[in-house]
Amino acid sequence: MVQTNPLSTGLDGTEPAQPLALFIFGVTGDLTRAKLIPALYSLFVDGRIGDARIIGFARRDWSRDHFRSQAEQMIRGQRGTAEQRQRFLSQLDYLQSTFEDDAGYRRMPDFAEGYRNRLYYLSTPPDAYPTVIDRIGRNGLADPEPDGYTRIIVEKPFGRDLESAIALNATLMEHFEENQVYRIDHYLGKETVQNLMMLRFGNGIFEPVWNNRYIDHVQITVAESAGVGTRGNYYESSGALRDMIQNHAFQLMAVTAMEPPNDTAPDSIRDEKLKIIRSLDPVTHREPASHIVRAQYASGVVDGEPVAGYLDEDGVDPHSTTETYVALKVYLDTWRWAGVPFLIRTGKRLSRKITEVSVHFKHPPLRHFSGSRHAPERNVLAIRIQPDEGVTLKMNAKIPGQSGGARPVLMDFSYGTSFGSGVPEAYERLLFDAMKGDNTLYTRRDEIESSWSFIDRILEHWGTTDVASASAPAPAHAHALAQYQAGTTGPDQAHALLGGDRRRWRTL
Ligand code: BG6
Repeated sequence: MVQTNPLSTGLDGTEPAQPLALFIFGVTGDLTRAKLIPALYSLFVDGRIGDARIIGFARRDWSRDHFRSQAEQMIRGQRGTAEQRQRFLSQLDYLQSTFEDDAGYRRMPDFAEGYRNRLYYLSTPPDAYPTVIDRIGRNGLADPEPDGYTRIIVEKPFGRDLESAIALNATLMEHFEENQVYRIDHYLGKETVQNLMMLRFGNGIFEPVWNNRYIDHVQITVAESAGVGTRGNYYESSGALRDMIQNHAFQLMAVTAMEPPNDTAPDSIRDEKLKIIRSLDPVTHREPASHIVRAQYASGVVDGEPVAGYLDEDGVDPHSTTETYVALKVYLDTWRWAGVPFLIRTGKRLSRKITEVSVHFKHPPLRHFSGSRHAPERNVLAIRIQPDEGVTLKMNAKIPGQSGGARPVLMDFSYGTSFGSGVPEAYERLLFDAMKGDNTLYTRRDEIESSWSFIDRILEHWGTTDVASASAPAPAHAHALAQYQAGTTGPDQAHALLGGDRRRWRTL
């Protein structure tokens, strides 16, 4: 069993086997520009990938030189010398082919000649995944070379429901072994998500109170100020539940709630995460009205700029009922968490971008100071995943003087202040882990299928509940889809999920 240390920060540890040929399928898409090439270049500058060959595989009629000049734009502004840039760009190549055409795949060995380690990155439109996997397999490209490895990274979305996720897993398993498959959820690559494990299991003071005796509720917020941008088409078939909850938010929940693993082997950690996802209580489905809120953004103002509503975005059906915001109240049926609500929300076009897990503790057993005008508030441990990565503990301090009232004050740890340099990009960490053969921070088949089976029941419920678009006349029986103004904290309905006892969503 490989013993790795996912809790160690940065990209230290063993070095991956070389030489490597990395094929990026769908290289002309946004992900390559925004994440993959910048991350690979950064790894290159740090001397992590040596003379790896990076081959773009896509339909578009690009040449190798065109790919290189595009890549040059993608790494503009990043660190490194002119010589490093040139050397990195010289390692890029381009293979033009449709995803269906076997002939394209048959040319791959020529591009990878002399490179015995092969990594495939699937970043095509998701409906092409089965075709690409199948063609790789039937052209004999899934088998490792002697003394080398062959692995495949599958970008999200991994299916759009349980059935399609099972089918995609089956296609993968026809050609690859499970240990060759890396299903990416880039949230797990974020430094602060790994720090959540360090915080819990590397310190003695948190774990004893990390349970339903001391914790009132947990909030998970994945808020974005951006809209759907150029991805309207994709988003129409996805929506916030599939795009953010099934994967990123549930992974944050799993890392927050899991039992301490017996060791740090990849499967020890993934087994514990799986137990959490499997423990999701179906009450959310039984009483949807008091456990789920969905909404869509209307026009508004974000960062001082007027922005369009969802229905006016490119690629969006003007009568669409796709949700751009979801809030859920879920419970975990475990000894540790029984009765503790996990309140999860995500949305586009909210007032700001922030990802945070906050643990809200119960009041002390006797409330000696509750009669005063400034009564103590609940202690909150907030883990800021991004931006301003760090952790704060909110506690009560006596206001100096005679009043005897309390005021919440913060103990604050910030990555920037304590460690100086910026935190590495999630994709750097994850790409490097895949090259090293460490799949700890990748999601396993059973985790994905379990989370889809929970999500599917919400989707089924929505499918049977008519909602009317804001722009279409509502049939008599339909509920109007809740709206929120862009640039705000989301729909009013989300407050009702919190239940009484002075629970409030954290300020965005
Ligand atoms: C992606 C979603 O997985 O995550 C996007 O498809 C979302 O809709 C993005 O914007 C958010 O990632 P990050 O790292 O910017 O929080």
